[in-house]
Amino acid sequence: MNSFVYDIPVKVYFGQNQLSNLGKELQKYGKRVLLTYGGGSIKKMGLYDKIVAEVKKAGLELFELSGIEPNPRITSVNQGAEICRKEKIDVLLAVGGGSTIDATKFIGAGAFHDGDVWDILTGKVSITHCLPIITVLTLSATGSEMDTAAVISNLETKDKIGYLHPMLLPKVSFLDPTHTFSVSSYQTACGAADILSHIIEVYFNMNQDLYMLDTVAEGLMKTVIKYTPIAMKEPDNYEARANLMWASSWAINGFLNGGKMQAWSCHPMEHELSAFYDITHGLGLAILTPRWMEYTLDETTAAKFHQFGCNVFGMDKDREPMAVAKKSIDMLSDFFFNTLGLKSTFTEIGIDETHFSIMAKKACGGGVLPGFKPLNQQDIETIFKACL
Ligand code: NZQ
Ligand code: ZN
Repeated sequence: MNSFVYDIPVKVYFGQNQLSNLGKELQKYGKRVLLTYGGGSIKKMGLYDKIVAEVKKAGLELFELSGIEPNPRITSVNQGAEICRKEKIDVLLAVGGGSTIDATKFIGAGAFHDGDVWDILTGKVSITHCLPIITVLTLSATGSEMDTAAVISNLETKDKIGYLHPMLLPKVSFLDPTHTFSVSSYQTACGAADILSHIIEVYFNMNQDLYMLDTVAEGLMKTVIKYTPIAMKEPDNYEARANLMWASSWAINGFLNGGKMQAWSCHPMEHELSAFYDITHGLGLAILTPRWMEYTLDETTAAKFHQFGCNVFGMDKDREPMAVAKKSIDMLSDFFFNTLGLKSTFTEIGIDETHFSIMAKKACGGGVLPGFKPLNQQDIETIFKACL
């Protein structure tokens, strides 16, 4: 295991009725609060009213930015940063899924940049500060509630850029599984695919000395596989929603990748799909991941797939490794496309070959995407074609 620093200082309030602590947490950071949210799901589920009541009860001044899009746009981020500067906002309160939280992270950083926040994402300028962020999560998927990442889209340039910085880490996150009861069956499935992908991106690694991390990863994957169908069938099943919510945070909060030499593969490829076609992130990952697995499976990687098949899908350890490896990919496909009912090809979601070449080039930055198996533009194009 390589040396590493683990430093994820996010205070988590997990469970029901924790919003009574929201006011006191906000008060620690100031008086002027910018509430950010998406297209209105928080109003439909009654959460908006509860949040406003808590903020008012704490005697704080409330400002709002609504309408943050799925695959959040830089235009919304710029709008939010402008409000922060104009209204001298002290603290940000993001209520929603990964899109709202990600946009809020860049609103917090953008508040200190007097210009287009896209300049930070493209690396023209650095993050200097970020306003404190408190999140109330409503969708188990991205892990943004407990990680240093944010992903922002620019429709004009057809770019979707992921960015990591310790200053983007939320100070406090409220994880109440009941806030996810209203998530649709489809978004629950896409969220599950995203959580699984975060784990798979670090689990498929050639290091041999990661037993402890691998065992935790396998437990998290089994959790997602066990509870997603239950949450889809019974949206208000607390046990299922709670297990998915905590799994989403731990899949990507910096714990699983500590000690590994690692680089991600399916995420860079998927971000190009979302950038060009504005598809749901988890759906793109579900279609890509089994094809990426098929492409990377060979004699040198089969042992890892064998481990995956045996420890996650309960396959027989004594069977021939390559047979187990192939079967494990089939079982993951079966989970995504039959159990979760997600579409299984690009063709079904309106993606054809038109942009494969440029998307592949952008995914690997014109060079090589390092990872479980290094991929160049040609490799990525081949994987894209296998998804048609
Ligand atoms: O806009 P609203 O009305 O909130 O509706 C949302 C949206 O339509 C809805 N929703 C959320 N909570 C709900 C709900 N509907 C009913 N009840 C609720 N409780 O679900 C839809 C999708 O929401 P969104 O926030 O876009 O989904 P998700 O959490 O999957 O976030 C996706 C974004 O996060 C990025 C993705 O690329 C994508 O842009 N990612 C962020 C990461 C990170 N910060 O670490 C890592 C990920 O790999 C990912 O790239
Ligand atoms: Zn993801």
